[in-house]
Amino acid sequence: MVTSAHDTVLVIDLGAQYANVIARRVRERHVYSEIVPHDISAADVVARGPAGVILSGGPMSVYADNALRIDPDLLTAGIPVLGICYGHQLLAQELGGEVTRTGRGEYGRTTLRADPDSMLLRGQPTDQTVWMSHGDAVTRAPDGFRVIAATDDTPVAGIEDPQRGLYGVQYHPEVSHTPLGGVVLDTFLSQIGARRTWTAHSVIAQQVDAIRAQVGTGRLVCGLSGGVDSAVAAAIVADAVGEQLTCVFVDHGLLRHDERRLVEEAFGAYSDSRLVVVKAADRFLEQLAGVTDPETKRKRIGAEFIRVFEEAARDHAGDARFLVQGTLYPDVIESGHGSAATIKSHHNVGGLPDDMAFELVEPLRWLFKDEVRRVGEELGLPPEIVWRQPFPGPGLAVRVIGEVTAERLDLVRAADRVVLEELRRAGLDRAVTHAEADADVEHVWQSFAVLPDVRAVGVQGDERTYGYPVIVRAVTSEDAMTADFARLDWEVLERIANRIVGEVDGVNRVAYDITSKPPGTIEWE
Ligand code: XMP
Repeated sequence: MVTSAHDTVLVIDLGAQYANVIARRVRERHVYSEIVPHDISAADVVARGPAGVILSGGPMSVYADNALRIDPDLLTAGIPVLGICYGHQLLAQELGGEVTRTGRGEYGRTTLRADPDSMLLRGQPTDQTVWMSHGDAVTRAPDGFRVIAATDDTPVAGIEDPQRGLYGVQYHPEVSHTPLGGVVLDTFLSQIGARRTWTAHSVIAQQVDAIRAQVGTGRLVCGLSGGVDSAVAAAIVADAVGEQLTCVFVDHGLLRHDERRLVEEAFGAYSDSRLVVVKAADRFLEQLAGVTDPETKRKRIGAEFIRVFEEAARDHAGDARFLVQGTLYPDVIESGHGSAATIKSHHNVGGLPDDMAFELVEPLRWLFKDEVRRVGEELGLPPEIVWRQPFPGPGLAVRVIGEVTAERLDLVRAADRVVLEELRRAGLDRAVTHAEADADVEHVWQSFAVLPDVRAVGVQGDERTYGYPVIVRAVTSEDAMTADFARLDWEVLERIANRIVGEVDGVNRVAYDITSKPPGTIEWE
């Protein structure tokens, strides 16, 4: 829980993936929203004093043996409720309406006839496009409810009883394929009188207070990875108790071109705290000598990282008792819905072990990634940090297939630099273009070069060459769970290929990876 300072909408999770999106859409409307499990008791909900509750969609039928249910007292507790899809059906069924297996499911775009004189859909066009995904349907509204929407196949696609503050829609207002979905959520939030206080500014102010209360005069240590999460976490802590904070950046020699300089400069610009940079490339290369198996590489890097980090914390952060981590809300949700007892510790700093004697400080624990980025902007972090591409902890080691050597790292680093420069030139990398971000451009999620352990014959300057091919990878994605290869222009690809072959010694060929995820993964190892 964040605090009672914000009006809160609790999203009751009746099927995982939807709940997440609903909470994000509510927060985008500046109302704090939290996800809670379906078996939360009505008494617990009441104790939280939420402004409203949203019942999420879910993949089940209300008639399934193991159908997820809610505590029925929730619907008579005097708290406003909006049911979505499965939540709409559950609400209707619990209150005495009828849900039927019509045998005519609706999936995808559907035309809805809305009642513009209703409370929830007031002022909306009578005919509109909505996104549906359901098998069962409500066929009779409960007593006291008015039917406010219908489709050809679903006569009761929306219901309301504003007196009791109860609303339901069969379609998904949270998805972008329902163009007026945001208006539905906005109307619900206004209807329940939720105050719009959830902003980057208020998040920072509140976290600063919370951190001060947690750590007192204690010292903290924070591992910086160069990524946005650890940078924003460090920046908030620096705002709160900057003098007590020491940040540690481990340069393991597996970084992109200029990465250390970027982190040092950016850090200097947003923080007065101490930054310890540990140059440990030799140690990591030693650990990687002769290793070709991807999992062994990861384990060796993870273990060495911990050793270096612990040494730095001991030698440079005094007796720091607190460890700052950039854990995000999705990590918390996946680990058990934010109830402290069930959360495992997420060790973002290269998998730090549980027996480290640190108390965790996690200022991003309640934030989604896009909120972290907004907080980062509000804190004045540069766009190169706020919008930078995700980069794997094991770094370039998982982009050098086979043995990792200093020479092979240099080669992949040089090729990687060309890829990033050319994508930036083409306006496809968000870190540089976001200030004037073109909404029509789909920015790449990640782009990089991979060095395989094969060689190819080529001809350069009338000479036969026997060199390395480089594989270029650029993908679009929303969350890295799935990804598609970026449809780059031939001209962009041509420039990348020409520059790599021309500028990177030892490379005589460039291939472009056109595999999506699945079946591939984003990284090659
Ligand atoms: P894959 O390759 O599984 O990657 O599609 C999904 C996302 O995770 C990143 N990645 C990692 N990040 N440690 C990390 O911190 C790792 O070992 C690791 N492996 C992959 C990858 O860059 C992509 O964003």
